[in-house]
Amino acid sequence: MAKVLIVGSGGREHAIGRAMLASPQVTAVYCAPGNPGMTLSGIQTVAIAETDFAGLVAFVHQAAIALTFVGPEAPLAAGIVDYFEAEDLPVFGANQAVAQLESSKVFAKAFMHRHQIPTAGYAVFHDATTALTHSQQAPLPQVIKVDGLAAGKGVTVAQTQTAATTAITAAFAITDTVLIEDFMGGFEFSQMVLVGGDKFCLLPTAQDHKRLRDAEKGPNTGGMGAYSPVPQITPVIRQQMIDQVILPTINGLKADGLTLNGVIYVGGILTSKGIQVIEYNLRLGDPETQILLPQLRGDFYQVIVDLLHHQQPTLTWQTTATYLGVVLAAPGYPEHAQIGVAVPTLPTADYASVSGTPQHLVSAGGRVMMVIAHGATLVAAQQQAYAQLGQLATGQLQFRHDIGWQGLQAMPPKMSPADGPASEA
Ligand code: GLY
Repeated sequence: MAKVLIVGSGGREHAIGRAMLASPQVTAVYCAPGNPGMTLSGIQTVAIAETDFAGLVAFVHQAAIALTFVGPEAPLAAGIVDYFEAEDLPVFGANQAVAQLESSKVFAKAFMHRHQIPTAGYAVFHDATTALTHSQQAPLPQVIKVDGLAAGKGVTVAQTQTAATTAITAAFAITDTVLIEDFMGGFEFSQMVLVGGDKFCLLPTAQDHKRLRDAEKGPNTGGMGAYSPVPQITPVIRQQMIDQVILPTINGLKADGLTLNGVIYVGGILTSKGIQVIEYNLRLGDPETQILLPQLRGDFYQVIVDLLHHQQPTLTWQTTATYLGVVLAAPGYPEHAQIGVAVPTLPTADYASVSGTPQHLVSAGGRVMMVIAHGATLVAAQQQAYAQLGQLATGQLQFRHDIGWQGLQAMPPKMSPADGPASEA
């Protein structure tokens, strides 16, 4: 029997904790620092910051933790896995060298170029004057990326030269390395893979909704909702993803002398030229994880233990339903999220930036919770999710009303009006 520690505090970590608790081998799940909403699911929170490696290791020894699973990118980029491995402690997550695939866009682009992994053309700049000169000669739209972790805020798609100039100037105010990439139009989706050396298993496909408001309006966010699987990503396209991206990535890590026991998250886009990679993350996605892990039929703890031993896990995913989740965020998010705003208590929800007590939760940041549903079809899952939201005292919290809309474009055109997407919460 085993105790598990999850590092992180968001909805993704809540979902990982739930999946671990469902294992017959797991007696207790702790989350550091976690949030009070997680305790509704039986996860115990531990007041240790995700970058306090010495504090986390001391807790692992004191509580006899058998496995640590690292959720977010910041501790991975800061070397938490190297720290734990130096102490001979089992830990699932990318070490610092591999985490550069997420923490440095220049590193990731060079890796993809070296291993013939399809991605947009790009150029790297270390001063604003040269970048602006390049930008003025390059076609629009252009994608301006700040190198380094930027919590989802380091990318601008500039449609005009004025917007490109503004983005480049703003980027060089906070960094000395900026990429300008060719724009790729197409259908974006997420493909996550659990990796243990050269063994790996794919999660179902998912699609996030990055914009704050319906119909892809408003500012970019950390993600306002997700659904899975994505009907547009057919088995043929998925196989292309495996052949052209996943296998070359895993083989490329090996060729570069790097070992990964963790997650590869491919931010993919289906274009007229086939699949391209927008970016890598070296962690599970948020909010995708919250609708992916409930689809696992099997023992998540054993899957991770097998991968850490570089053995092929046996795992299956449900294939008969669509899962869909809607994120609720504090008013003012993403620019100025209000804290102290009432957040409803729902034991089946995954909680993120909340404080207070489980029965009286309040906002402590931007995204506060995610309501999850599933149904025999995407339409049914959407209706279920919004029906749940309709029963909740959502008060001042904001959420989108159209999660899943792109997937619905793939549905057969003849539907009765009763099958249409829910439009009111
Ligand atoms: N869903 C986007 C992310 O996790 O970065």
